[in-house]
Amino acid sequence: MIELLPWDSEFFGRRIGALTRVWTEASITGDLDEAGRDGYDYLISRPPVEDAAAVRALEQRGFYLTDLGVTWQGEVGRYLQGAGRGPSPVRHATEADIPWLQQASVSLFPLSRFYHDPFYSKADADRLHAAWLANSVRGLAADAVLMIPEAGFVTCKMAKDGAGEVVLIGVVDRARQRGAGRALMTAAVEWFRSQAVATVRVKTQVKNLQAMNFYHRLRFDLHSTDMTMGCILLKERT
Ligand SMILES: CC(C)(COP(=O)(O)OP(=O)(O)OC[C@H]1O[C@@H](n2cnc3c(N)ncnc32)[C@H](O)[C@@H]1OP(=O)(O)O)[C@@H](O)C(=O)NCCC(=O)NCCS
Repeated sequence: MIELLPWDSEFFGRRIGALTRVWTEASITGDLDEAGRDGYDYLISRPPVEDAAAVRALEQRGFYLTDLGVTWQGEVGRYLQGAGRGPSPVRHATEADIPWLQQASVSLFPLSRFYHDPFYSKADADRLHAAWLANSVRGLAADAVLMIPEAGFVTCKMAKDGAGEVVLIGVVDRARQRGAGRALMTAAVEWFRSQAVATVRVKTQVKNLQAMNFYHRLRFDLHSTDMTMGCILLKERT
């Protein structure tokens, strides 16, 4: 079965879906038939990282690896116990900050799967991150956006299971290694505490060693891994 991804489909102007069921060659063949009938241009699939047979079956039917994710988790109480106290340079972002946030976002996430998947152009990926930031400030893609002017930002979202999710965190190149990232994460964790959240998660890519070292320094623990595979169908129909 395929689940339509309505936001992605509308944003990119192409029909995009996700596989929702078991990954055997037979199920994938059935899904690809369904995708052809329903006019899909692109599919993603998220098999469990440890399911080598599913990954092989997806590869045999034309899926390719686009992302290996690592999710980190921190306890709000423990994090804030270890966090320094003092004046914070962090404030909530407003509509007026959107142009700067968008401009900053374009250079901050080159390891995002959208920059490495041949289905998307660089312009698509830039546009996606810019839209993401605007929608976050407007409360559509995040519940709070915190920032240090001219330095960086963090977007915070309440997950369905009650955990807090840091969706994007970034500090511009020239402001790195001076505590801005830590100050942003501390402000995010404090914001989550104000929402009665006990656990905060943040996801990054396996190849983003910089971010993983950062979360490790902030005493987050490894929580889980995931993988995303993509399959372009456009050519099959032309
Ligand atoms: C990850 C990122 C936010 C860190 O921001 P930063 O302002 O440089 O981080 P800080 O200066 O506050 O560093 C906090 C701690 O992490 C450590 N750290 C930061 N970057 C590190 C790196 N590349 N390697 C090792 N440790 C690092 C610092 O040494 C510091 O440790 P300490 O406080 O115990 O001395 C920044 O590098 C960035 O924006 N990267 C690109 C965007 C990105 O990948 N975001 C995450 C994925 S969504």
